[in-house]
Amino acid sequence: MPNKISPEIDFPNGGAAMSARRRRVKKIRVGIIGAGGIAAGKHLPGHRSVKGVEVIAVCDIVEEKAKAFARKHDIPYYFKDYMDLISMDELDAVSVCTPNNFHAAPTIAALEAGKHVLCEKPMAGNARDAQAMLEAAQRTGKILQIGLQSRFNKRMMTLRKLYQEGFFGEAYYGRAIALRRRGIPASPTFITKKMAGGGPLIDIGVHVLDVLLWILGYPRPVRAFGSIATKFGNRADVINPWGKWDPKQFDVEDFAMGVIKFENGLTITLETAWASHVEGTGTTFFMGDKAGATFSPFRVYTDKGGEMISFEPEIPKEIQKAPGEFEAFHKAIREGLPSPVPPEEVIWTSKIFDAIYKSARTGTSVAVK
Ligand SMILES: NC(=O)c1ccc[n+]([C@@H]2O[C@H](COP(=O)([O-])OP(=O)(O)OC[C@H]3O[C@@H](n4cnc5c(N)ncnc54)[C@H](O)[C@@H]3O)[C@@H](O)[C@H]2O)c1
Repeated sequence: MPNKISPEIDFPNGGAAMSARRRRVKKIRVGIIGAGGIAAGKHLPGHRSVKGVEVIAVCDIVEEKAKAFARKHDIPYYFKDYMDLISMDELDAVSVCTPNNFHAAPTIAALEAGKHVLCEKPMAGNARDAQAMLEAAQRTGKILQIGLQSRFNKRMMTLRKLYQEGFFGEAYYGRAIALRRRGIPASPTFITKKMAGGGPLIDIGVHVLDVLLWILGYPRPVRAFGSIATKFGNRADVINPWGKWDPKQFDVEDFAMGVIKFENGLTITLETAWASHVEGTGTTFFMGDKAGATFSPFRVYTDKGGEMISFEPEIPKEIQKAPGEFEAFHKAIREGLPSPVPPEEVIWTSKIFDAIYKSARTGTSVAVK
């Protein structure tokens, strides 16, 4: 039996009892798995911002957290076990907001139960889990969208459109950069291999690498070489505005870099850190043989009429009106569209990260496959 917060709220028309006609216009009902920071800060407001969507259930392995979350946010049902949440007939979709190494199990179970899934980034803590998630999405035909919100940034969408139109020509080099002087996430969710699978490489590296690859048409990676270090996380004397953590628990890297070669000749350097002794090291960029771009400042650079010019590209009208992350998820559900952030693409980031970690261990470059 589900735990119910508001006895007056009921769903008598749920599941199979609903007529086909009613189903066409019914609300999309969502459950959230993992009642932590990203659930409260992104998924709850994200789903609620979309018309015709209701968040009706939440679960957390710590039942008190689920209950408090449900109470605070007026969510009628809460659970301790995600299998109980997933078995609710009324649910159409779930958000998976658990630590990285616990993305695969609830995602696969939800897909198998016929729910669409919006799963937080990185896709998983390793490529094996990500592969199992991809296969579950393909087997069930349900939508699996990965929570990489940078793809909905209008500037990133504009660069992608310009790339597709040939403005940049052939891209041959890029740098994806996510370097913090200080910003170590203080929770075990992020700093333990058991929960996170890895450190800044997969935590913040995934945003910049994925969006850069997406702009450039997701070419196939072939080899990666990488290096990692832990220089701050296991020390007790480090200044960290993001709060205190237990240095004895910290067993992931706090710096990682990689060089990735792609089938089409592209090379990307990826640099990530949660802590370092540098600042102002520049922006993510890419170079094409006709033009190049920097993310911040948002600018493109090319030659025209015998001059070197640079300018801030205008955001096209259709991009200004394009749906955001949660709107896109629900539109895909309602209209039977493919996943707006498909696992078929994002899995390559997991494979690249596995190769970089392996390369850091072995000291040689590693095939990405
Ligand atoms: N998109 C972004 O920019 C962004 C930002 C922050 C976090 N995230 C991602 O969101 C995920 C969660 O991060 P967070 O900051 O919310 O962490 P968090 O620790 O605040 O919350 C995670 C919650 O999941 C619960 N949980 C763990 N295992 C569970 C299980 N099996 N069933 C149910 N609940 C379980 C924990 O008890 C905890 O309450 C991570 O994968 C992280 O990478 C994404």
